[in-house]
Amino acid sequence: MHMERVEMALEAALNAASGPKCPPKLASAMRHAVFPGGHRIRPQIVLAVAMACGDPNPAHTDAAAAAIELMHCASLVHDDLPTFDDAPIRRGKPTVHVEFGEPLAVLTGDALIVLAYETIARAFSADARQLVQMINIVSQSVGAPSGIIAGQAWESEETISLVDYQRAKTGALFAGATLAGAAAAGQDPEAWRALGDYIGEAYQVADDLRDLLCDAEELGKPAHQDERRARPNAAAQLGIGGAKQRLTDLADAAAASIPDCPGAEQLRVIIRAQTRQLFPSQLEQYAA
Ligand code: IPE
Ligand code: IPE
Ligand code: MG
Ligand code: MG
Repeated sequence: MHMERVEMALEAALNAASGPKCPPKLASAMRHAVFPGGHRIRPQIVLAVAMACGDPNPAHTDAAAAAIELMHCASLVHDDLPTFDDAPIRRGKPTVHVEFGEPLAVLTGDALIVLAYETIARAFSADARQLVQMINIVSQSVGAPSGIIAGQAWESEETISLVDYQRAKTGALFAGATLAGAAAAGQDPEAWRALGDYIGEAYQVADDLRDLLCDAEELGKPAHQDERRARPNAAAQLGIGGAKQRLTDLADAAAASIPDCPGAEQLRVIIRAQTRQLFPSQLEQYAA
């Protein structure tokens, strides 16, 4: 949809962090983690929401989209490390620690997190109020108590609830994406939380279905990990038909939750198209 704009925003962010002063392996590892991307769904949501609100300041929107995707890429680099999921492939190529070694993979994740904040700081330097707002949105979707880091940390607890775990691990950054898109366009971000929550849950249900139904070649990353690691999986809990129905309901709820704005109708079309893409093709044979 807005793929080219996403790639340009990420290029600009990465270029600011590389150059002759950067240790060459770190620069290469950072690029390896970001390019080529995967679905790029989170930054596309940032752009789609900002554009539905008129996108009055494209530089703010681009920085917000890049920051959200950089956080996502950082989380994947750390998630794949031997101490977490010990994954050899990501996005169809060797993971960062396989290609560059564990020390550089840890540092790459760290550097991408810092770069996300730097990218926001640079773009919002003329507007302190919006800068603070954007830092809060991004921080809440990544940190403790209920962002990605908290989500990953639930895996170290004795008991975890599927809802809290997935809301933090996946949902929080989707809510961050809709809030960031609205805030970049100067709108009230909170009005956009429900949309992010619904898309986030839909995305996690879809990922759980793919984990169950697809193979590693199709996914570009290891499959059947949830059962292997005894992790909660929505499709295992609801059954495949139940998960398919849940995905359909969440897509409807997402489309219905879009607040009044100039581009609401077009955004509804985009959200419906994106959620349809989440359905793994193997699902066609299962009744909802
Ligand atoms: C994978 O996210 C991890 C989850 C939280 C489900 P994506 O499926 O968006 O990963 P990429 O960016 O497309 O590789
Ligand atoms: C990774 O989660 C994404 C994060 C939120 C850090 P998973 O471990 O469940 O996803 P994949 O299968 O590696 O993409
Ligand atoms: Mg994991
Ligand atoms: Mg993983």
